[in-house]
Amino acid sequence: MNRIERLIGKMSLAEKLGQLTMTAADYAVTGPFAAGDSTEAIKAGTIGNLLNIFGADRVRELQRLAVEESRLGIPLLIGLDVVHGHRTLFPIPLGEAATFDPRLWSLTAREAAVEAAADGLAMTFAPMLDVSRDARWGRGAEGPGEDPWLAARIAEAKVRGFQGADLAAPDALAAVAKHYCAYGAVTAGRDYASVDISERTLHEVHMPPFAAAVAAGVAAVMPAFTDLAGIPMTANGALLTGWLRRRLNFDGVIVSDFNAVGELIRHGIAADLAQAAALALNAGVDIDMMADAYRRGLPIALERRWVTMADIEASVRRVLSLKVRLGLFEDPYRRGKTPESAPVIAARRRLARAAGARAIVMLKNDGAVLPLPDSVRRLAVIGPLADASAEMRGPWWAAAGSEEPVSVLAGLRGMLGESRVLHQPGVEIDAESVSGIASALELCAHSDAILLCVGESAAMSGEAASRAHLGLPGRQRPLAEAVLERARVLRKPVIVILFSGRALVVPWLIEQADAVLAAWFPGSEAGNAIGDLIMGRIGPSGRTPVSWPRAIGQVPLFYGQRPSGRPADPKDRFTSKYLDASDAPLFPFGHGLTYGECTLSNLRVTPESVTEHDTVEIRVDVANGGARGAEETVFLFARDKLASVARPLLELKGFGRIHLDPGQSGTVTMFLAAQELKFLGLDLQPVFEPGEVEILVGPCADRSRLLAGTIQLAPPPRA
Ligand code: BGC
Repeated sequence: MNRIERLIGKMSLAEKLGQLTMTAADYAVTGPFAAGDSTEAIKAGTIGNLLNIFGADRVRELQRLAVEESRLGIPLLIGLDVVHGHRTLFPIPLGEAATFDPRLWSLTAREAAVEAAADGLAMTFAPMLDVSRDARWGRGAEGPGEDPWLAARIAEAKVRGFQGADLAAPDALAAVAKHYCAYGAVTAGRDYASVDISERTLHEVHMPPFAAAVAAGVAAVMPAFTDLAGIPMTANGALLTGWLRRRLNFDGVIVSDFNAVGELIRHGIAADLAQAAALALNAGVDIDMMADAYRRGLPIALERRWVTMADIEASVRRVLSLKVRLGLFEDPYRRGKTPESAPVIAARRRLARAAGARAIVMLKNDGAVLPLPDSVRRLAVIGPLADASAEMRGPWWAAAGSEEPVSVLAGLRGMLGESRVLHQPGVEIDAESVSGIASALELCAHSDAILLCVGESAAMSGEAASRAHLGLPGRQRPLAEAVLERARVLRKPVIVILFSGRALVVPWLIEQADAVLAAWFPGSEAGNAIGDLIMGRIGPSGRTPVSWPRAIGQVPLFYGQRPSGRPADPKDRFTSKYLDASDAPLFPFGHGLTYGECTLSNLRVTPESVTEHDTVEIRVDVANGGARGAEETVFLFARDKLASVARPLLELKGFGRIHLDPGQSGTVTMFLAAQELKFLGLDLQPVFEPGEVEILVGPCADRSRLLAGTIQLAPPPRA
C-alpha cells in the first residue's frame, strides 16, 4: 500500500474533510467564514490547505504545526493569487496577452513562481483563462482577451512557466486554471451574473484554453462562480466530471472559488450547506475554498446518504497526490528555504521593465510624434495617472503591496532629469473637482510636448469591477479636452498614455491626440517601461488582444463573428448594422503600430491541397519602409467560407514575428497543421470537411488589410 492509501486508512472523517478544506489563515481567527483558531485546526488536522498568506517564516511556522504537531503530519498546501507577479509585478495579463510573445508569457510565469516559492508558496490561483468579449466586465483585465486560440497559447505557456519542468522542484508552483468555464460571458458584462451561451460557443470559444491547460499538465482547475444555463459551475457535474475529468482526462485537483460552495444556496439549488456540499462534491469539486461547507455539511450529507465515503476519499486522494507531486511530503520546507539574492531580484525587475514595454500597444502615432526627438527639452506630464505609483500595479497584486512601482513621472525624471519634466495632475481620477485644470494648462506653454496620463484606476477593473460607462471616469474628460485645446493653439503635440484594464470607449480622445499608447497597467517598472518606449530606446511591438469599441452599444465586440445573411451594406438599410454608429471597431483585434512602416506582400501557401494529417506552410514577405527599426507581428487567419455549419468570418490560427531594420525586408514563415482546420460539425463533434479554406495574413483582424490565399482540404486518400 502506498503512502496515500496508508494515510487515508488512518484518517478520521474530520481529518479527511480537513484535506478538502482551504481557508485563509487570517480569516480563520476573525471570521466570518471559518470559525475558531487556525492554529488549533491545523494541529487537529482539520484544515489541510491555506490561502492568502505568504512569507517564508510565516509559512514555515504554519507548516511546522501541520507536519510536526498534527497526528498524521500531513503538510499544508498553501496558495495565493500570483496572477501577474508576486512581489515583482509584470503587466496585467491582458497587457501580457498584447505582447504575443509565448516565450515571455512563460518567462514571467516562471519568475513569478520562483519569487512566490521563495516566499513559501506552493500554489497559484492562475492562469486566469476566461475569454472576454465584453469590455464592461472588469475581469477581462486578468485574462487573455477575446480570442480562444490566443487564450489557449497563453494557457500552455503559463502552465509551463508556473509549474516548470518538475512540480517537486523547490521553485515550482502548482498552477490553477480558472475560472472554468465561460465566466467571461456573464450577462451584460456584470460580474457574477448568470451565463447562458450555446454549447457551440462553450466549446469553440471558452473551452479551448482549459483544454490547452490540461494538455500542458495543469495541476488544478477552479470552477467559475457563475452558472451556465442554470447549473452553477461549482455543481456542474457534466462539465467538471463529465468533460474535464473524463473527456479531457484531467486528473488533478478541482478547487472551488472563494465561498462558491456556500453560494450554491444563493444560486437557488441548495437548501443548506449540507446540500451545497453534496452537490459540489458529487460534481467533482475536491477542495472547498472558504465556505466551510465540506467540514460542516458533508458529515450531514453522509448521514443522509447524499454522498459516499468513497467519493470523499477520492477527493482526499487527489489532494494528497498533489501534495506528493509538489514534494511536500519529502521536504515540507523546501519552498522558502533560501532568500533570493539581490542580483536575482534585479534581473527580475529588468524582465518586468521589458515586459511592461512590450505590452504597450501604440494605437496611434500621427506625424510620427513618437519617439520623442532630442529636441524635446521640456515635457509636461499631466493627468492623475502620471504620479500614481500604486495604480501601476493593476487590480491583482498578490504580495506587491509593500513595493512601490515606478510611476510615469519617476521613470521620466530618472531618464531626463528633474528639470526637464514638469508635472500637474489636473484632476483626480474619480473626484469631481476641476480646480487643478488651470495649473495643468499653464505647463503646456512651458514645454515642447505634452504627455497626458489618463484612464482608470487599478480598482476599476478586476473582480467586482464591471463598468457600464467605459469613458474616462471623474473629470478627466474636461481636463483632456482643455489640454488638447490649449496644445492645438500652442501647436504642441499631445501624447496620451491610457491606463486601463480593458478597452476604453474614448473615440474623441483618440481622434484628437497626436499619439495614443494603451499601457494597460504595466506593473512594477511602469514608468521605466513607458519611458523606454517614448524615448525610442525600445520600439513598440504590442498588439491589442481585444477589439476597441467606438461606442458602448457595440459591446460585446469581437472579430470572430459569424456571417450574417444580411452583411452590413451602407446602401441597404436592411442589413446588419447600427443606424447611429459604425459596426466596425475603432481598432481591430491585433492592431498596434511600430516605429517602422511595414508592408506585407507575396503570400505563399503550400501545398495547394492538404489532407487532415498534413501541414500547410505559409510565407509572407515583410518590408520595413520606415526610418526606424520595427518588430512586426503578422497574423494568420483562416476562413472556411462553405461548411456544414456557418464558420466565423475570421479565425486566428497563428502569428509570426520579424525584426526589421529601416529599409530591410524579410520573410515570415508560419506553419498550420491541417488538423487545426477541423471544426465542430452539426453534431458538435470535430470534423475535417473537404473544401476550400481561405488563408488570410496581415497586421490585424481588419479583413480589408489581409492578403488572401487558399488551400484545398482534401479527403483522405483511398486505401
Ligand atoms: C476570485 C478568484 C481567486 C479567489 C482567491 C475569488 O474571489 O474569483 O479568482 O482566486 O478569490 O483569492
